[in-house]
Amino acid sequence: MKDETKSADEIFKEFKEHSITEFFRRNSQMLGYAGKVRSLTTIVHEYVTNSLDAAEEAGILPEIEVKVKELGENRYSVYVKDNGPGIPSKVVGKALASVLTGTKFHRYMQQRGQQGIGAGGCTIFALITTGKGIHVKSGTGKEAYECDLSIDIKGNKPLINNLTTIANTFRGLVVEGEFGDVKYEKSEHGVYEYVRRTALTNPHTTIKLVEPDGNEAVFPRSAQTLPKKPKEINPHPLGISTSDLLDFARASQSRKVTSFLVESFARVSQDKVKELASLVKDVDFEKDPKELTWSDSEKIVNGFKQVKWIAPDLDSLSTVGEKQIEVAMQNILDPKFISVVERKPKVFKGGIPFVVEVGIAYGGKAGRANGETVAGSILRFANKVPLLFDTGSCAITEAVNGIEWRRYSIARFEEEPVSVLVNVSSVYIPYSGVGKQAIAQEDEIIEEIKLAVMETGRKLQRYLSGERQRNVQESGYKTIMRYVSQLSADLEEITGKKKEETEKELRSLIERKYKNLFNEAQNES
Ligand SMILES: Nc1ncnc2c1ncn2[C@@H]1O[C@H](COP(=O)(O)OP(=O)(O)O)[C@@H](O)[C@H]1O
Ligand SMILES: [Mg+2]
Repeated sequence: MKDETKSADEIFKEFKEHSITEFFRRNSQMLGYAGKVRSLTTIVHEYVTNSLDAAEEAGILPEIEVKVKELGENRYSVYVKDNGPGIPSKVVGKALASVLTGTKFHRYMQQRGQQGIGAGGCTIFALITTGKGIHVKSGTGKEAYECDLSIDIKGNKPLINNLTTIANTFRGLVVEGEFGDVKYEKSEHGVYEYVRRTALTNPHTTIKLVEPDGNEAVFPRSAQTLPKKPKEINPHPLGISTSDLLDFARASQSRKVTSFLVESFARVSQDKVKELASLVKDVDFEKDPKELTWSDSEKIVNGFKQVKWIAPDLDSLSTVGEKQIEVAMQNILDPKFISVVERKPKVFKGGIPFVVEVGIAYGGKAGRANGETVAGSILRFANKVPLLFDTGSCAITEAVNGIEWRRYSIARFEEEPVSVLVNVSSVYIPYSGVGKQAIAQEDEIIEEIKLAVMETGRKLQRYLSGERQRNVQESGYKTIMRYVSQLSADLEEITGKKKEETEKELRSLIERKYKNLFNEAQNES
């Protein structure tokens, strides 16, 4: 028999280090590249969220244009242009053609992007499906240029080619790329729906989509002011996990664990650190925070839970706003009825602030097409970004499906023209998967969504029952009116009174009885 054993030396001859880009190339499903339709939506999502973040940070009302062209089977080009601050040429490679790079790292602030894998992920996806990088045009005010960007995947290094300066009149960023293994579909999960929903929660944005068939869909802004700027805050000790704490410790400039805790976290004072140190005895609070071990970090996080803290600052959140949602829903869904509520900020896991907004629309274009009929539709958002995938595992779906819709005069949610928009905002959205398409089912979050939906639901119920009463009256009125003419003629035979006269009197009598109906109809029009 052949000897099948191998020595460690032989085995480890194969030992290699992979670059982070290489890792994402092999695991692109982690970035949302799974399925042709989803992959295309992911690309548009990454570029559009970047444009929104950048324009808002620069204090510019965003104007975004998305163009998708079909180039061949499962092959499309995507073009996204914005009027934001642009990217300086010396960092454009790092920003758009490498991963884990960006301006939003270690910043505890409510923004759409955070991890620095969005734009680089798109470039990797372009490379692995077409072999081509992306083309960029940028104008910052100081300079304007165009270039081609690619990635040295093994080294996670950006490659910049054909860098040329252009007339310094262009402001903003254009990214353009060719992608394979993608498909344009006008479905619940497609780019059109993504753009439409983006318009619903970003009413300060004008967004235009040119579809592969040439159709142009424009969603003009309905709000002329930027949303309140989210504030950068330090995380609250109760909202922190062991690995978060270690991440923060590694990024910290502080020399001692004590000062690191005071400087990096909200509500942590010298006194609180002393109290903590007395609870967590076997951790050296005088050492360099970079020397904290996993076990130290775990002990500190457990210690945090035993100290009484002042609640976190709730001022860090940026919502769409009740009025804003109402106007956007009115413009886009053109419903018969809308009710919107923004709840007060709350806290989950003891230390992470979040806030829920809900809008209900009924009638008009509300709901979603379901064959020949219309079904209720749940429009999910996290920090104003539409969530189109992984519906089943999301806290929003769970909360909305848990509502007893009968109580709100909706016999079957699945059969009514109703749209329920739910936006959850937080510095730290607890996503339930790597694709960031579903919110984890935290009890406090589900509860808040339910309360908000119930509040809007009660108003919907009042509207629908009023509406039903009107319908009953209306059909009563119509039935009686149908007999008026015949009755008046018969009465002429019996009483000799002229049919026209009787008919006129009867009509005014009936109209007086049903005057509510006419008043309401007049008020509405
Ligand atoms: N349209 C844009 N305008 C200006 N800067 C941008 C734009 N898109 C991307 N960037 C910059 O590139 C960085 C990396 O983007 P990305 O990889 O999507 O990561 P993230 O959005 O998580 O920070 C951003 O942090 C930002 O600094
Ligand atoms: Mg991003």
